[in-house]
Amino acid sequence: MANSNKVIDPSSLANLSEVVTKHLHFDWTISFTEKKIHGHVTLDMVTLVPRVAQIVLDSSYLDIKGVQLNGQPLEYTVADRHPSLGSALTITLPETVEEGTKLQVKIEYSTTEKCTAVQYLEPEQTVGKKHPYLFSQCQAIHARALAPLQDSPSVKVTYSASVTSPLPVVMSALLSGTSEDNNDGTKTYHFKQNTTIPSYLIAIAAGNLAGREIGPRSTVWCEPEVVEQAAWEFEDTEKFIATGESLLTPYEWGRYDLLVLPPSFPYGGMENPCLTFVTPTLLAGDKSAVDVVAHEIAHSWMGNLVTTSNWEHFWLNEGWTVFIERKIASRLHGEPERQFSAIIGWKALKESVELFGENSPATVLKPDLSSGIDPDDYFSSIPYEKGFNLLYHIEKTVGGPQVFEPYMKAHVERFANKSITTDQWLAHLHEYMEKHHGQEVVDKLKQIDWDRWISGPGMPPVDPKFDTSLADACYNLAARWDQARQSDDLSGFSSKDVESFTSTQKIVFLERLTDCEPLPHHLLEKMDQLYEMTPIRNADIRFRWQQLCVMASYEKIYPHVVEFITEQGRMKFVRPLYRYLYNAKNGASLAQETFLKHKNFYHPIAATLIAKDINLKQ
Ligand code: BES
Ligand code: ZN
Repeated sequence: MANSNKVIDPSSLANLSEVVTKHLHFDWTISFTEKKIHGHVTLDMVTLVPRVAQIVLDSSYLDIKGVQLNGQPLEYTVADRHPSLGSALTITLPETVEEGTKLQVKIEYSTTEKCTAVQYLEPEQTVGKKHPYLFSQCQAIHARALAPLQDSPSVKVTYSASVTSPLPVVMSALLSGTSEDNNDGTKTYHFKQNTTIPSYLIAIAAGNLAGREIGPRSTVWCEPEVVEQAAWEFEDTEKFIATGESLLTPYEWGRYDLLVLPPSFPYGGMENPCLTFVTPTLLAGDKSAVDVVAHEIAHSWMGNLVTTSNWEHFWLNEGWTVFIERKIASRLHGEPERQFSAIIGWKALKESVELFGENSPATVLKPDLSSGIDPDDYFSSIPYEKGFNLLYHIEKTVGGPQVFEPYMKAHVERFANKSITTDQWLAHLHEYMEKHHGQEVVDKLKQIDWDRWISGPGMPPVDPKFDTSLADACYNLAARWDQARQSDDLSGFSSKDVESFTSTQKIVFLERLTDCEPLPHHLLEKMDQLYEMTPIRNADIRFRWQQLCVMASYEKIYPHVVEFITEQGRMKFVRPLYRYLYNAKNGASLAQETFLKHKNFYHPIAATLIAKDINLKQ
């Protein structure tokens, strides 16, 4: 068969149209000393067409040791590496097989030191400093660096795993048993994920992990030193899950645990099923960052149950998730809170559009990835916030939450356990509205400029006019500072200005100022004196404050920026700060030197992207 899989998923090299995986079993041994995982994967596959002669799998930087079909060794080749998609592993079947044939393929292999899916930490890089640690991050296309498989979200599988390790192991699955000691200081942990998932949701972590129950179906896992704080910060988890259930369908996954990772975790959160991974920068001490947990919980439906069929439709995961996350916020804290979050999102969207350029193909809601672009290179707020805004606009157009909320539920029911494209989503939306609300609402949908929303670059075609009731105080204060550059009299400002501000209001105040001309240094100095910005530990505020200062080339802040970007590796903070520092006066070499010195601290995905951002060849 011709390679029509290109149509299914431009980011996979597998022959997806000929054969499909149903179940994966991993039998792994972790070696912290070698920084490797070795063992085998067994793929239960079924052919989809007649006369299948080979199986092509995705792989990346793997050491393949042998392939067997029903116990018989098979011939295979590992192709030269595609720069972003990895190396196709082509397995030749002994003879061509008919459509509907079940094949059990067992591959023995080991990961290598180039593995982009896993970061290994030395004991010094952990809180406790005594034990090593490892964690994976497979989204978008790094699962192929953990195991040879069909690394496409169009394929959904159940999985099981047996993992032998000297330290406790957790996975994106349910623990089904732990062996007694293996007499060599290791134990074997057994896992089962019985709901079908795309490969990017396979996840593992191992280290000195302790658990603390925080709800009827939730435990927070982390190093014992921070478990107390984590349990407090995330105590509202069950409320978020229950709100998600009331908006959508019953929670499918049995457990919802959280794993708080070491500071180099490159994302805010990752919705690994049964076990969300989160950055320790969420431990703000005031629960101000738990919207990330609400977001990851929303993925339990949007993304994990209803999944994008390939990375061009990534917005279906993230736009929908942001939409549900904000629905949860409005249920728990009122509509103004949702509007406030939407305002913050709009600002993030604007920054992404400015960064890529308003005509850039990377700013399109459904981008074209057919040339083999690395999805990591296109990662931005665009699918999140343009996606949110499209759904928000549809909600308004069809008659508000009364009409839209029942539809959200119908969307999940229609597509649960499936992978879908933007066209499939759109067809169902129209079908649903016609069936439940008739021609009148269908006519309203016709007013939407779908082509521009979905395929046009730049900002959305519609101004959302969010309610600014919670933002006005922030805007007013920002305007006063902006105007103060014209005068010498700063006596009107006092520490009281921000006394009643929530963390989020401080963020919006600072964000507003980053939209103005850089502030003169004496104003930044005064602001810091009055509002005590530099010592604030809340990562989101710290980020925005440092951004404001670096954009003004306020050199006094540079050492604090270096401190912040080398003590945590969340890309949302480190990538922009490296970029701003690189572009600031006397900042370029500081940025490059800082990165080179601390390169090993960062997760491999983050390191690659930061290096590109500040013009360093890796
Ligand atoms: N699934 C994403 C993280 C991700 C996306 C990892 C694409 C790799 C490739 C996760 O749900 C997410 O969106 N995290 C956000 C937090 C959120 C509140 C917007 C983050 O990490 O900042
Ligand atoms: Zn997300």
